[in-house]
Amino acid sequence: MSANKRIALSSDHAAIELRQAIATHIAAQGWEPVDIGPTTPESTHYPAHGQAAAERVASGDCALGIILCGTGQGIMMAANKVKGIRCGVCSEPFSASMIRAHNNANMLSIGARVTGEGLALDIVDAFLGTSFEGGRHATRVDMITALES
Ligand code: RB5
Repeated sequence: MSANKRIALSSDHAAIELRQAIATHIAAQGWEPVDIGPTTPESTHYPAHGQAAAERVASGDCALGIILCGTGQGIMMAANKVKGIRCGVCSEPFSASMIRAHNNANMLSIGARVTGEGLALDIVDAFLGTSFEGGRHATRVDMITALES
């Protein structure tokens, strides 16, 4: 894993509590959560929060990102519009591990209205605990990157 231990975190209003639980959880493991909010429960717009976290990752300020909304889907779609971002929604740990190992995902999305806290933390652990395998998978990830230009 990268020497950069900074993890960008953001959500919309549907996932504030779970986002904060994830921040506490990963900080206890030595990661540095960069929690860019929001902190108040007013209804807000997930694309802006997905973009904000994605830009932290795409710029290299954060090594990885974890984003959340009600389903995890909308904020994932927004994050994936930022050049250099590969984000997947996961509702179980196997996929969270595989998007790192095979897809070199640099962001994880979770649906707070889909996934309970205990399972979400297991998903986060699987994501952060897995490295990209490279090899034949690098060829395929390079093909994804080529779609950006
Ligand atoms: C907000 O109500 C909800 O639409 C949002 O959190 C998310 O699920 C969208 O994908």
